[in-house]
Parts: sequence; C-alpha cells; structure tokens
Amino acid sequence: MKHIESVADLRESLRIWRMRGESIAFVPTMGNLHAGHLHLVEEAKKQAERVVVSIFVNPTQFSAGEDFGSYPRTPEKDAAQLRESGVDLLFMPDTETMYPRGSSTFVEVPGISETLCGSFRPGHFRGVATVVCKLFNMVQPEVALFGEKDFQQLTVIHRMVADLNLPVRVIGVPTVREANGLAMSSRNGYLSTEEKSQAALLYQSLLAAKAALEAGERDYRSIETQQLENLKEGGFVPDYFVIRKVDLAEPASCDRDFVILLAARLGKARLIDNIRVRV
Ligand code: PAF
Repeated sequence: MKHIESVADLRESLRIWRMRGESIAFVPTMGNLHAGHLHLVEEAKKQAERVVVSIFVNPTQFSAGEDFGSYPRTPEKDAAQLRESGVDLLFMPDTETMYPRGSSTFVEVPGISETLCGSFRPGHFRGVATVVCKLFNMVQPEVALFGEKDFQQLTVIHRMVADLNLPVRVIGVPTVREANGLAMSSRNGYLSTEEKSQAALLYQSLLAAKAALEAGERDYRSIETQQLENLKEGGFVPDYFVIRKVDLAEPASCDRDFVILLAARLGKARLIDNIRVRV
C-alpha cells in the first residue's frame, strides 16, 4: 500500500494507474477505523481495480465547542488495517495541504444542510461538502463509497455531485452494527461499557417506529413523540427523532417509503442512526 501525503504524489500515482486503464474507487474517512469502514473498503474493491482511502480529520465540519481536538486519531493502527485489507493507496494530507493559507472557497448545499443534524451543528454540512468536493477533485475517482449511517451526509453529497456535475458515482453502503444493534461509529469509543449496552436502545427505538409504520400507523408525530420519550427514559438526551421521506422532506399520509432518523446524546457521545422503511 502506498502511503501519500501530498497532492502532487497522489496525482502521480493516480496518473500511472489511469494510463493502464485502471478504475479508482474512493473511501473518504476521518480515521479511527472500525468494521464499518473496512466494510466500505470491501465494497470498494468490488467496484474498481484500485482502492484509495483518505484519512483527514476535517476541521471545517466541527462547530466551536465540538470534539475536533479530542477526536480519536489512530493513524498507525488505521494504516495497518488498510494494508491488511488490500487498499492500494492511503492519502493522509495535513491541514495545510487541504486548506492552504488564504483558502476561502466553500461548497454549500442549502436546504437539506440546515435541518436535522445541520440545525444542531451549524456549518457542519458546509464543511463536509467542501472537503468531499476537494477530495473528489484530488482523487478523481469513478466511484466513491459512504456509510448509510450518515444518511443526511449521503443526501448532501448526492445533491452536491448532481448540482456540480461531478463525474463520480456515489454509493451508499448499509450500516454495520454491533451485536446489540448499535451502529458502528468512531464516537462509540466515548461510551463506557455500560453506556454501550444502554445504547442498544437507539436501534430498538428505530425498530419500534418501523413496526408502527408497518402496522399502518400514520400519525407520524405520535410515533416520534413516543420514541423521544422512550429515549429520554433510557437516559438519552435526544436532539431529534423524525420520520421523513427518503429525500428528507416531511411525509404525507399517502407516503410509503420512509427513513426514520435520530440523534441523541449519551454521556460524552452524540450518536446518530437511521433505518429505511418501505410499507
Ligand atoms: O463521514 C466522515 O467520516 C466524514 O464526514 C467525511 C465524509 C470523511 C468528510 O470528512
């Protein structure tokens, strides 16, 4: 596996692969890799001849007072796992490479960026869209893979790629879960053992809401309120629990295709999860 830090070296490696007609699948990450990331790599290997993974803890997607400083950074362990998984190139730029002095251009995807997580983390999706757009321009992959756990992020990226005519196919990969249903996330590392078992309630609340929709309940507000209470009783401080259409718009009673999304705090962690429902 090549381990590259500069854009010039990255472009040189990619140029050689492209000259040979090899296609490139890209998995952007912020590191501290877990089974969910490695699943993205496995899916990427099915999509192209070469797999590029980036690790960059992107400062512009953290709001003031969030965990940018303490975000878990485990570069040696990550590199070993990626080498083991058969990744061809690890791109690990530093902040100066991604945002050189004087850098002032941002990508905004208004509308879907301000709701849900966006209303609790102002500027978050502007930072995500900007860094992903820059990474796409650097790597120029045919395909890029993102976890469906970050459903709103995936929606923002799909919108950005369509609006900017970026020549990349974006694939969402299903969430990988712990045995108790907790969605894999780097932020699960903030949880104590006890909190990890408590956090099984998140997925259970999504399943309960899914069961209500499948049973024909169409009073979305009542399902949401019931599950917000359920989370509070389970020791969480929920930011939201909502039933939406798959484009994140509010559903009408005739809708049949939903995504249920939540964000909630437990101890030091802010956790998100979602589930798709077709009835
Ligand atoms: O999902 C993440 O890990 C990050 O938001 C991403 C897409 C790598 C951008 O920094």
